[in-house]
Amino acid sequence: MAFWLECLTSFKRLHFKMRLKLTHLGRIVGITVSLASCLTLIKTVEAVKKEDFKTCSQSGFCRRNRAYADDALAQPSFKSPYIILKDSVKLGDSKVYAEVKNTETDVLLTLDLFILQDNTARIRINEKNPIKPRYDDHAQFTIANQLIDSSVHKTSRAKDGVITILLDNTNKRKVIITSEPLRIEFIVDEKPIVSLNDRGFFNFEHLRTKESHKPKMVEKTNDEGAIELVEAESEKDLWEESFKTWTDPKPNGPESFGLDVSFHGFSHVYGIPEHSSSLSLKETKGGEGSYDEPYRLYNTDVFEYAADTPMSLYGAVPFMVAHQKDMSAGVFFMNPAETWIDIVKTKPEQKNTAQKAFSFGKKVEDTKSTQTHWMTEAGVLDLFVFLGPSTKDILRQYHAITGTPSMPQMFAIGYHQSRWNYINQRDVLEVDSQFDKHDIPYDVIWLDIEYTDEKKYFTWDIPKFPDAIKMEEELEHKGRKLVTIIDPHIKRDDNYHICQTAKDNGYFVQQPSGGDYEAWCWPGQSSWVDFSSPAAREWWKSEFGFDKFKGTRENVHIWNDMNEPSVFNGPEITMQKEMIHYGKWEHRVLHNLYSVLTHYSTAEGIKERTKVAQRPFVLSRGFYAGTQRYGPIWTGDNMVDWESLYYTNPMILSNSIAGISFSGADVPGFFGNPSPELLVRWYQAAVFQPFFRGHAHIDTKRREPYLLDEPYRSITRASLRERYALLPYWYTLFFEAHKTGVPMMRPMFMEFPEDEALFTTEDQFMLGSGMLVKPVTSEGTFAAEIYFPGDQPWYDTQTFEKIQHNGYKTVEAPIEKVPAYYRGGHIIPRRERARRSTSGMKLDPFTLVIALDNKGQAHGELYLDDGETYDFESGAYVRTQFIYNNGVLTSKNLHEDPSSDAATKYAASIKDVRIERIRLLGVEQPEHIHVVHPDATRTPVSFEYSVATGYLTIKDPKTLVSQGGWRIEIQ
Ligand code: NOJ
Repeated sequence: MAFWLECLTSFKRLHFKMRLKLTHLGRIVGITVSLASCLTLIKTVEAVKKEDFKTCSQSGFCRRNRAYADDALAQPSFKSPYIILKDSVKLGDSKVYAEVKNTETDVLLTLDLFILQDNTARIRINEKNPIKPRYDDHAQFTIANQLIDSSVHKTSRAKDGVITILLDNTNKRKVIITSEPLRIEFIVDEKPIVSLNDRGFFNFEHLRTKESHKPKMVEKTNDEGAIELVEAESEKDLWEESFKTWTDPKPNGPESFGLDVSFHGFSHVYGIPEHSSSLSLKETKGGEGSYDEPYRLYNTDVFEYAADTPMSLYGAVPFMVAHQKDMSAGVFFMNPAETWIDIVKTKPEQKNTAQKAFSFGKKVEDTKSTQTHWMTEAGVLDLFVFLGPSTKDILRQYHAITGTPSMPQMFAIGYHQSRWNYINQRDVLEVDSQFDKHDIPYDVIWLDIEYTDEKKYFTWDIPKFPDAIKMEEELEHKGRKLVTIIDPHIKRDDNYHICQTAKDNGYFVQQPSGGDYEAWCWPGQSSWVDFSSPAAREWWKSEFGFDKFKGTRENVHIWNDMNEPSVFNGPEITMQKEMIHYGKWEHRVLHNLYSVLTHYSTAEGIKERTKVAQRPFVLSRGFYAGTQRYGPIWTGDNMVDWESLYYTNPMILSNSIAGISFSGADVPGFFGNPSPELLVRWYQAAVFQPFFRGHAHIDTKRREPYLLDEPYRSITRASLRERYALLPYWYTLFFEAHKTGVPMMRPMFMEFPEDEALFTTEDQFMLGSGMLVKPVTSEGTFAAEIYFPGDQPWYDTQTFEKIQHNGYKTVEAPIEKVPAYYRGGHIIPRRERARRSTSGMKLDPFTLVIALDNKGQAHGELYLDDGETYDFESGAYVRTQFIYNNGVLTSKNLHEDPSSDAATKYAASIKDVRIERIRLLGVEQPEHIHVVHPDATRTPVSFEYSVATGYLTIKDPKTLVSQGGWRIEIQ
């Protein structure tokens, strides 16, 4: 009976308990439970259980900071109590130091402002004399590069204490700091762009002892009508906080801070993933269609998460980008503690607040602005401001701090086939062979938690997988890989070597009273590895060694799940904030960092275990700023429904804009069974999304693409083949992201920054600069309304039909078609031979699609390397630019050092790889086509021309990709 109640109480616990009881009790005590009947009951249970997660008013510091802001707004005479102590100011070469006093409490803070190169500023505010240090260690994990001071700046200080810092020598960009009250304003071309504490919401709770704390008292009329002094609302939850059945003891008392950041003249802000929400972020305090809660950043395992909500999900990146027609700006609040963000947009006619006394920007125009309010539970205020000017510039500036995405192996961007669970070795090999039987390409097969011996990671369920190595060798034989799951919770079991080592060496997160933290997850009673401990990280890495993680070989890569961390019986399904990490830091201060530390330690383990370092592949569910350096993430346990398919696009785009460019969603949704139509449409969308993995909940029906009936199977096969054909373009885009931080999948406004009609567009996107995609995301829909920006033509990727149109246009989208277009002016490299996996494509010839613009010009790039190792870092790659102009196609070698040993050696290894076909779109019928080879010999080439579409195919020009100096003349 209890079991049934539990089933109903929570599906999440159902996962856990059913697995536990079915596998253990069922086996041991002989209880047989009908999974199907339990599931029938479950269906009547509401989806997401919002009440399992805090609202702002249930989170003490959020409530306090929101109330502080509301008070400030409500009092016309409100003035921020924070002032700069004039005598404390020190103007350094590239920095400003000042002390800031809270005139209400007399507590002193330190303010450091650093001007960094490339339109970037960093602002840090900490307590001057805290009673103990505030957590700051996270920076070592998040800042990937040495921060370089700007060389061009000039600092001056006026009599009234106003400090001006020029960011460049043209006087175009400057920062102005006002003393009373403290206010920092970023000005570009005399216009204020970003300002801090503009509205006076800055509030920094200093550390204190409970004994020394003097509660704030306010007058209140009691029941008898008399006025009495009572503790202010803001005094609640300072020293203890309850949520549902949990109590957070908060031994350090209040330690949060809040700050308002105004983006002047910007109507749209983006980023701060992960939320199942719109790309252009919504208002959170009133306004049409707004949310009534702030966006939350707190890594959580939200079961059956809902669409269109600011609730936090598995990842958190406190990085926001604002965009307007002629410029963008960005802010990065580098702090891994729980954070909430309110967003309010002012109407043009509204004057902001009482606080906004004046601006140093001379051209303050009454345009719509976005005002944000950031509230963080603990730590130090450490904020970066990026002034772009374009969104792509901001991404470069942000990645200069947090590091660019790592370059994946080629297989990682092919198709992955997963399910919870392929039940045994035979099953894995059967699925593998079915793909081949049906000529459907795929690269990686995945094993979820059931492959282990009782969820003891780094072990195998031997009866099910008697010879894992043999299985992996068979996959290897076809050039395929295996991914196995390894979660950060470790089963408490004295006979389990991982548990034993971690226990003996103190590698687990601790309880405040001492002793390992224990709670529930998949294996039952578990402890969590403390990845903030250097020794624990080193140990974890070493456990991936082939001598230790037996049953794995070089083609085995890893999946880190549940690393928010997910704790089934913890508050909000995660770890209690008072648990203790390395250095005696509470979990509270680094919660969102836990995910990335798990990911990092695993990726390093995989990288270090092979003789020749291979680029590791590790998928993570939890993420934070910097995750991009370690591997992809996915959007967790989504639903199999049309709405969830729709939200994959804004979610992945929001990730992209926040630096997490390698991301994807479970295809075609995790919970539920898809109709063939939904499955087909989901695969079509995922062809153009960076991480492409089919995955399914354990209780769903099998849905591998080969199981579909016709015509769905053929349509899905065609989608997967299209993904593989586009891999050269994808790989080139991944390289661009690796170099510059500009993501592969891009919001439309990133490519067309001037077109305001695109600022909220989230159902179509750009793949690189050269392709536009609008996946069909609603049922029974066989037409799509697409916005074609710019004045250059677009070309249908399937029919090559030219579309010369600016604005909305309805196009047909029958079930076999995903509306995708080449952009006039771009050259897209493809490989069109059908292979069973990427390894078979290594020496395949290329097809170039040349989509001409109105002037008959186009350009594009191809990047190629061994797709596995780090040799590309020392020059073992080919990078070629193709230019089409005046009827002549030429190529230019973009290699930094083409005559280096590494470059020539790699070029030799692909010396016979040629361009076998060129498709020229938007061209007149030619009379002759010749190739002029590097030795100046001229050979005619055959071609075909379609008068109907204006499309030309040049056949086998015999030009080599590793060799420059050839040209193709079309006359
Ligand atoms: C939760 C993950 O989100 C899901 O993808 C996985 O199948 C289950 N954990 C079981 O490991």
